[in-house]
Amino acid sequence: MAMSDPFQELNPDGYTKVADLSELIGKKGIVRKLGDDEIALVRLEGKVAAFINICPHQHTRLINGYGGQVSGLNLTCPMHGWTYNLETGVCINGSGKLKMLEVIIQDGHVLVRKMNPAGFHDGMLEHGK
Ligand code: FES
Repeated sequence: MAMSDPFQELNPDGYTKVADLSELIGKKGIVRKLGDDEIALVRLEGKVAAFINICPHQHTRLINGYGGQVSGLNLTCPMHGWTYNLETGVCINGSGKLKMLEVIIQDGHVLVRKMNPAGFHDGMLEHGK
């Protein structure tokens, strides 16, 4: 009998539990599979940013790839230095934009969901608890 993956439980409102908050230590970030996508989770000053783990420039993995660097609210791609604001996903020195997911924290778990018609949230939301 197949075991269910506790991090792929889909909640009725469309959120999927992808990690425990305690796994997000420092600003290194972690990656998870969400369907066919690899997503990255980064803890920032009281918030969590979730986004598809691909640099829009030349499709390099940002976290756990060549080592994207997080500084403040920004993430810099190690390949050519495009830097993204992790609240909005907008690139501040290039033309790309990260595909952001909506995040909530519930009972110490990180849950995410895709939002807009293109399938992604336009920015990071505040969360409680
Ligand atoms: S691949 Fe990320 S900046 Fe070029």
